[in-house]
Amino acid sequence: MTLDSLHLLFFKNYDEANLRFSPGINCFIGDNGSGKTNLLDAIHYLSLTKSAFTPTDSQSIKQDADFFVVKGKFQADSSASSETIQVSLRAGQKKALTHDKQPYDRLSDHIGKYPAVLISPYDTDLIRQSSEERRKYFDSLLSQLDHEFLEQLITYNALLRQRNAVLKQSSGSSHGFDRDYLLALDEQLAPLGQQLTAARATFLTEFTPIFQRHYQQLADGREAVTLTYKSQLLDADFAQLLRANERRDLILQRSTTGPHRDDFIFLMEELPVKNYGSQGQQKSFAIALKLAQFEILAIRQQHKPLLLLDDIFDRLDEKRIARLLELVANDTFGQVFLTDTNLARTDLALTRVSSDIYRFRVQSGTVAPV
Ligand SMILES: Nc1ncnc2c1ncn2[C@@H]1O[C@H](COP(=O)(O)OP(=O)(O)OP(=O)(O)O)[C@@H](O)[C@H]1O
Ligand SMILES: [Mg+2]
Repeated sequence: MTLDSLHLLFFKNYDEANLRFSPGINCFIGDNGSGKTNLLDAIHYLSLTKSAFTPTDSQSIKQDADFFVVKGKFQADSSASSETIQVSLRAGQKKALTHDKQPYDRLSDHIGKYPAVLISPYDTDLIRQSSEERRKYFDSLLSQLDHEFLEQLITYNALLRQRNAVLKQSSGSSHGFDRDYLLALDEQLAPLGQQLTAARATFLTEFTPIFQRHYQQLADGREAVTLTYKSQLLDADFAQLLRANERRDLILQRSTTGPHRDDFIFLMEELPVKNYGSQGQQKSFAIALKLAQFEILAIRQQHKPLLLLDDIFDRLDEKRIARLLELVANDTFGQVFLTDTNLARTDLALTRVSSDIYRFRVQSGTVAPV
């Protein structure tokens, strides 16, 4: 699958942009702050209906404008006709998503159809930040692979919000709150929570060996790494856990057990990478996660995700760059979009890669082919 063209209106620092892409490698070259990462983020919007960087969509509307449009033409293979995806947002309104001008009823119906994998300097946040980052990462990946998982997750989160609202209304007192409603919610939450946990655990057994292989290749196989899933629900019944913690939940006015509290533990030589891994080891760890993500999406969906490489030449050492470019050169990846501040350096790095290469010059919110 390839993205043939991209059209932007009032997206981040762009008034307007119109680009045609190579099915091979596309390089965005420009100074710091010129708008290179914003272009990758626009592509991320087309794939996942949201930004990879900004938590609220309205931040993607250009300052002083009142809407943005991101439109892309995708092609499944060279013989297929193209499909147009458009994401738009008008300030104060709901985000709109269309496929060939037909609106989706729900944004979630789009997830997984046009996969993209982003490798960026922020990836180590996944290791260093809270468990929420890791849950979001694996849940987003699983959602792209398995629509049923996504549906269950959406329902679980909606029920959890209702449950927390009931707990809040109680003001910590077991009198005068609607316990029947709480029990009714728990009856629905329990099987869903169990299913989500089981799906995450099964996924991790498939994902871990792929991740380990990428880590060994990237880091010359010096240290043993693994991923484990930590959940109370793995060895307890969720319905029982909800009952056992009801009093505590009432006092704290939130739900203290469930898959929304799980974590994924990243280990190196059996110690947490977060605390014991060097910066370089953490970087390799994060890239290996992303490469495994790419591989598993490509296997399961039978077409290669778009690969978005942000600032790899700046942030990675020569060996890791060489390893990534080896993968680019040997056709492991399909269409690639990368950013750099230096055209000569990019050209030098890509000399061994035979694929079609398009270069774009990015200058304070404008972009044009070189
Ligand atoms: N909603 C917005 N309206 C106007 N400008 C914005 C908006 N959102 C982001 N920007 C601006 O876009 C600029 C470019 O951002 P971007 O991250 O794409 O730069 P970059 O070329 O990747 O830079 P670097 O090389 O430092 O990574 C930033 O200066 C930022 O302030
Ligand atoms: Mg950038």
